[in-house]
Amino acid sequence: MGIEIEQSCVQLSNIAISDTHGENSPYFAGWKAYDENPYHELTNSSGVIQMGLAENQVSFDLVEKYLEVHPEDYNGFRENALFQDYHGLKSFRTAMASFMEQIRGGKATFDSERIVITAGATAANELLTFILANPGDALLVPTPYYPGFDRDLRWRTGVNIVPIHCNRSNNFQITPKSFRSSLQRSRINEHESITVKRSVLEEILDFVTKKNIHLISDEIYSGSVFNSSEFVSIAEILETRRYKDAERVHIVYSLSKDLGLPGFRVGTIYSYNDKVVTTARRMSSFTLISSQTQQFLANMLSDKKFTEKYININRERLKKRYEMIIEGLKSVGIECLKGNAGLFCWMNLSPLLKESTKEGELELWNIVLNELKLNISPGCSCHCDQPGWFRVCFANMSEHTLEVALKRIRNFMANRTGTKKM
Ligand SMILES: Cc1ncc(COP(=O)(O)O)c(C=O)c1O
Repeated sequence: MGIEIEQSCVQLSNIAISDTHGENSPYFAGWKAYDENPYHELTNSSGVIQMGLAENQVSFDLVEKYLEVHPEDYNGFRENALFQDYHGLKSFRTAMASFMEQIRGGKATFDSERIVITAGATAANELLTFILANPGDALLVPTPYYPGFDRDLRWRTGVNIVPIHCNRSNNFQITPKSFRSSLQRSRINEHESITVKRSVLEEILDFVTKKNIHLISDEIYSGSVFNSSEFVSIAEILETRRYKDAERVHIVYSLSKDLGLPGFRVGTIYSYNDKVVTTARRMSSFTLISSQTQQFLANMLSDKKFTEKYININRERLKKRYEMIIEGLKSVGIECLKGNAGLFCWMNLSPLLKESTKEGELELWNIVLNELKLNISPGCSCHCDQPGWFRVCFANMSEHTLEVALKRIRNFMANRTGTKKM
């Protein structure tokens, strides 16, 4: 049991007491509600269903099957127990570079010497911010964005975020116009779920070159685009430009989404800038990946037969789930933004708001959380400037649980309109 101290008179640092970590947002409050009363099909069927966590559980069986056949991949005590330097295992970096190429259908090449290993994309994003920006500088980030960015990019670095607002008027996509209107020295993150079109990426690259600023492309969902031909990586654009001005471009990637392994904490920075690679490698001492994890993944990712099968089946399953939720919501008159990737959909509940404000959105969110017992993320937690949109995850649960969640929404809508429950 912890020692109880009535009132502390010792001081903590400015960073420790700052609230720029953003953890007082409804995004995290919803997680707490889930933790206190988690849904379980048999033991707590009226509990909170977690639809606020972008986790991919739809293809666990494929990895489990791989492990059954290759149990030897997950051992090697002596090698793994010894000191590992911050370069990481060569075999792991080679396998990771090759996996990143495979996801892009061979349309981009990656050099394993440019791969810097980090404990997830969280660490990669913070580390790059430390290297590219000074406290007080700003990063341009298109909205709606991943709520964790407030913590990852701002909290410890002292760097600000300037949102580039994307909303219904531009179909929630970065357009050259919305982009051009944000003229700060900074960086960009790829929009989470809708793939950025090639022409926009070209424009962005021209823009950052003209302004002499950096570009970070967070490609964490690159392997979760339902139709692989619809994803364009910034790496492809650079390749077609023969790497002209490439030294300002840095890619962030992790296995948290595409392989559903957020608990393994496996991320990378891929930079085309030698100095950034060297500095990031030094800094990565604070956030390395354990040797055991690297060794296991080096083996699994080198098995091309497995990775090809996994990538294809995972894409198909995500698409099926996406269609299931979109159709379920459509049948009760709820519109979703058309998506083509990722682990969640963007649901429009604006017609249900009492008032079209952030407060109105949070009031509805409270009802959904406390009465329907669904933890979804209100748009304001993703800095969406248009009230009434919600982020709903569909890949972190079984199909049965998704059915239960849809049933709760159907009943809620039926009660509102006074029609019969389904
Ligand atoms: C766009 C984006 N970047 C980064 C992260 C952090 O990922 P990781 O678990 O690899 O730290 C997430 C996680 O949800 C994300 O959605």
